[in-house]
Amino acid sequence: MRTVDLITRKRDGEELSPEELSFLVDGYTRGEIPDYQMAAFLMATFFSGMTDKEVGTMTELMLRSGETLDLSDIPGLKVDKHSTGGVGDKTSLISAPIAAAAGAKIPMISGRALGFTGGTLDKLEAIPGFRTNLTVDEIKAQVAKIGLAFAGQSSQLTPTDGLIYALRDASGTVESVPLIASSIMSKKLAEGIDALVLDVKVGAGAFIKRQIHARELAQLMVAIGRRNNKKVIALLTDMNQPLGYAIGNALEIMEVSQTLQNGGPVDLTRLSLELAARMIHLGKVTATIEEARELAQAKLLDGSGFRKLKEVIAAQGGNPQVLDRFDLLPNATGMREIVTPRGGYVAGIDAQLIGQAATLIGAGRSTKDDVIDPAVGVILDVKMGAKVDGNTVLCRLYYRDDANVEEAAELVEDAFRISASAPEERELILEVVS
Ligand code: URA
Repeated sequence: MRTVDLITRKRDGEELSPEELSFLVDGYTRGEIPDYQMAAFLMATFFSGMTDKEVGTMTELMLRSGETLDLSDIPGLKVDKHSTGGVGDKTSLISAPIAAAAGAKIPMISGRALGFTGGTLDKLEAIPGFRTNLTVDEIKAQVAKIGLAFAGQSSQLTPTDGLIYALRDASGTVESVPLIASSIMSKKLAEGIDALVLDVKVGAGAFIKRQIHARELAQLMVAIGRRNNKKVIALLTDMNQPLGYAIGNALEIMEVSQTLQNGGPVDLTRLSLELAARMIHLGKVTATIEEARELAQAKLLDGSGFRKLKEVIAAQGGNPQVLDRFDLLPNATGMREIVTPRGGYVAGIDAQLIGQAATLIGAGRSTKDDVIDPAVGVILDVKMGAKVDGNTVLCRLYYRDDANVEEAAELVEDAFRISASAPEERELILEVVS
């Protein structure tokens, strides 16, 4: 078998057999196939796609490249939630504590920021002292004791996905439905969970821009779950404007705190509650989704979701007081307001441009090895539909180093579309795939 023949066959739209895919993927993992050939194969896949059988094989190959966690010691069904990546998406930090307070068992293994999207691990690490590098035994003990642990993917879990993901990031091939499906599902199957709630983001601030492709991705991941005896449900959700008002790690922790005390943005609260309800239901804490929704709402209103997050922060080495005293979190030193030159209605806030601006001032990563500044980011003053006069502040940039502030400000100015008439209200939850 020759690598170049497999690349050209994929380029020409042919289906590769499991043996051929294994030759490529395993060969790349062992370092026998160079980056340039694997990148060419990924680009061929980007354009030609993969059959469902190929996606199943890719998932299996990446899953088998590492270990699989055994969480069977933890009583009850284990459920996780995963987002395909968005801007201002801090729903995991709200929905998981609420679902855990309701009795769900959640070993949450999360990722880091990449491109213009944020990552749950980076947000948590904005809390001084918070440890995400838990061992499997620590995850088990914490989930058994308090129902929730937030951990990072260890190098033992799906190492091939780590290698291929980095190459996709550098070769412009992240936005491929079959590659995203196999990447996410290999990691989730390796976690040893029973059920999974997926938040498939669609729109400007997501890797997938069109609902038809988001649906295809959701259906693929649900089918992979089913074939592996996992109950998977996917919500397709709008990611055209950022979720909530805060984008940037410590800023998002502050918004999480407000939301868990029922003082958060409407869109963020609604989506987090629905995701929590889905976790509660799939984790079989309640018999129906309606009961799960009521329970999630109750756990928000009585403050037990908020207390659960404090418990998790304390268990993982952080100071839970950060949720009450924001001065204990890293804080920016500079602030720049972005003002609208004219009045009208906010008809659009391009989440990708806002995410790119936040990345430029240090809130995200342009390459995998970039270091994040937890203090910096963007706070929106308005959301879509708001009526603004000339000179209204649209958002604020919080920074510590002013090197890229000018460029970031230009991106943010371009992100806001002001029009004479009010925009139509958009649905936040577009579709459910199960
Ligand atoms: N998140 C992942 O883990 N993988 C992808 O390919 C995209 C988002």
